[in-house]
Amino acid sequence: MPLKKILFPGKRSASNSQEIGLRIANIFGKYLLKTDHLHYGYWPADLPVELENLPKAQDLYSQYLCNHIPEGVKTILDVGCGTGHNAELLLDRGYEVDCVSPSSYLSEKTMAKLAGRGQLYQCIFEELPEKKKYDCLLFSESFQYIDLDTVFAKLEHFLNPGGSVVIADFFRIPGEGSSAMGGGHRLTRFQDKLAESKFKLTFEEDITDRTAPNLQLVNEALNQVAIPIRDLVIEELSTHHRALYLPGRFFAKLFFRRKLEKLEYKYFSGSRNAENFKQHKRYMLLVLTLG
Ligand SMILES: C[S@@+](CC[C@H](N)C(=O)[O-])C[C@H]1O[C@@H](n2cnc3c(N)ncnc32)[C@H](O)[C@@H]1O
Repeated sequence: MPLKKILFPGKRSASNSQEIGLRIANIFGKYLLKTDHLHYGYWPADLPVELENLPKAQDLYSQYLCNHIPEGVKTILDVGCGTGHNAELLLDRGYEVDCVSPSSYLSEKTMAKLAGRGQLYQCIFEELPEKKKYDCLLFSESFQYIDLDTVFAKLEHFLNPGGSVVIADFFRIPGEGSSAMGGGHRLTRFQDKLAESKFKLTFEEDITDRTAPNLQLVNEALNQVAIPIRDLVIEELSTHHRALYLPGRFFAKLFFRRKLEKLEYKYFSGSRNAENFKQHKRYMLLVLTLG
């Protein structure tokens, strides 16, 4: 029996650039490493930070998440389920799991993987109709995409009394210099919103050091693959297609200078690395309980 998919086409959807980024990550991961996790992985200190170890780190991360589902939980809503990897592991451990996925591409992957187990709601969490309650809501690297102004009120409607929310994601902190990557709610703003809500923080662990190694791999891939390819293309265009290249570069600089400078800093300056991530982000595992 196929997994039941319920479509809630709302007014808003997840951003297009986010969707494209996730699809590219999924295509590369699947082809090169046979992994379809869409998160940073959990890198124990003794696991060498090498590309071939990424699937192992990602498996460890999923296990780490599952190990932090509070005792007594039976039903889980996996919000922003990616390809359904965490949901599959949770189902295998005996939980009842439903999923929320705004992406039709990722929903198809999840449905194929979960093959009839649970329900998949295709919409953003902000527009999920309040029909069913759960013991636990899981946000694995998806909380950063959810609207912080409305999320706590929304969470309450999906939880059974005493229910909990498990969040594993990175948050922004003030750091020196500029961050080479966007994303993440400001940590102090999140803490303020939490203090105003009906939720209590019952567990927290800072796992920045265990997740940042992923950025070392990203940096290596950019330096050893993306930058050499970019330089080869520029060399070819500037020597053999000057009539096309020079005006193209002139107009690109004229109209998109700031955007190009930002792209250059983010992807080609070598700053998208583990150290920069640790300067500007905190990757947290948080368990909140409805008080
Ligand atoms: C980085 S991926 C993480 C996927 C998965 N949880 C994992 O750990 O591999 C982010 C996920 O959040 C989903 N997402 C983005 N915006 C969302 C929203 N507003 N509501 C629910 N899910 C969202 C994406 O479609 C994607 O599945």
